[in-house]
Amino acid sequence: MNIGSISEDKKIEKRISITPEIVKKYITLGFNVNLPKDYGIHLGLDDNKFKDQGAKIIADNTEVIKNSDILVQLGLITDNEIELIRESQTLIGVLNPYQNKNKLEILSKKKINIFSLELLPRITRAQSMDILSSQANLAGYKAVVESFAKFEKAVPMMMTAAGTVPAAKVLVVGAGVAGLQAIATAKRMGAIVFATDVRMASKEQVESLGGKFLTVDDTENLETEGGYAKETSDDFKKKQEILLAETLKKIDIVICTALIPGKQAPIIIKEGMIEEMQPGSVIYDLAAIQGGNTSCTEVNKIIDKNGVKIMGESNILNKLPSSSSSLYAKNVFNFVSNLYDKEKKNININLEDEIIAKTIIK
Ligand code: NAI
Repeated sequence: MNIGSISEDKKIEKRISITPEIVKKYITLGFNVNLPKDYGIHLGLDDNKFKDQGAKIIADNTEVIKNSDILVQLGLITDNEIELIRESQTLIGVLNPYQNKNKLEILSKKKINIFSLELLPRITRAQSMDILSSQANLAGYKAVVESFAKFEKAVPMMMTAAGTVPAAKVLVVGAGVAGLQAIATAKRMGAIVFATDVRMASKEQVESLGGKFLTVDDTENLETEGGYAKETSDDFKKKQEILLAETLKKIDIVICTALIPGKQAPIIIKEGMIEEMQPGSVIYDLAAIQGGNTSCTEVNKIIDKNGVKIMGESNILNKLPSSSSSLYAKNVFNFVSNLYDKEKKNININLEDEIIAKTIIK
């Protein structure tokens, strides 16, 4: 079988889906690997690095599409590329089925096998394929680095002959994968860290990282069976607002990560709450692309509200493309290995396998 990946628009996506290390693994599994010229050049990976591991470098994206039974990508391919893809080819990526419904319908009508990896179930067997976790982990780290870079005071406490610099106070809203990494990173830098979440299971995790968990009064555990957050009631929202409004007055840096799968991100920090924060504070909103956790967030902009900076990007992982590609490519390889039947030398769409049934788009 032929597996390939085409170059994506670097303004939107700098990550790649096949790294040299993974080329070798696909070949060991029995695949030929096709990549276009200069596929990884922007990450310092020239064509020889892929060729040395056994990949075939083809002229361009069009030829790769023509020659590949399976295409592995990050985002959805362009309209022109959709024209080129033909029946019974397989497309794997993070295809954002909620926003790309129409385009995915076109692909489905063309009888393309489509798999979208953000739909993977959070089960133990899928952990090695879990792109949401691998990428959110890096995003949580980078959000802290970015916000600290914009913060114009020192983060750790420093006791010097000239006086004491107090430790910065960080609040993490949403303690899932990204939030927990943000807590760990901020703690490593010497910040005092607070966190809140609607899932009570996260309290213990926050505390084990040295964070202080802020519990909304009389809260019930708002966790679905799949481990995700439920939407909160108006009563909960009011109580959360009171708790956070008071806390935010003393906080220097906020990292927002709260998401509800398939929905707009909840607005948790309102304008009035930001107005009460100290000038010089920074909010990094990792939920920006899903609408943001603050009412002031604008994607790819730094908003200044009375001296408080609010920032959020469309793809923070473009600032860590090498590390994120390395983990993403491994996740995708593990997914393809599960889909591939070595004896028949073909993919096996076994709908009794929860991993396949949940990720396939029909
Ligand atoms: P996510 O990215 O969907 O959401 C981020 C966090 O925001 C979550 O912790 C969520 O509870 C929280 N949140 C949502 N609305 C909120 C609100 N109004 N106020 C405060 N917080 C709010 O979540 P993520 O990081 O993808 O994790 C989802 C679940 O998956 C977690 O339970 C996690 O432990 C679980 N998981 C399981 C894995 C496994 O293999 N078993 C691997 C990775 C994650």
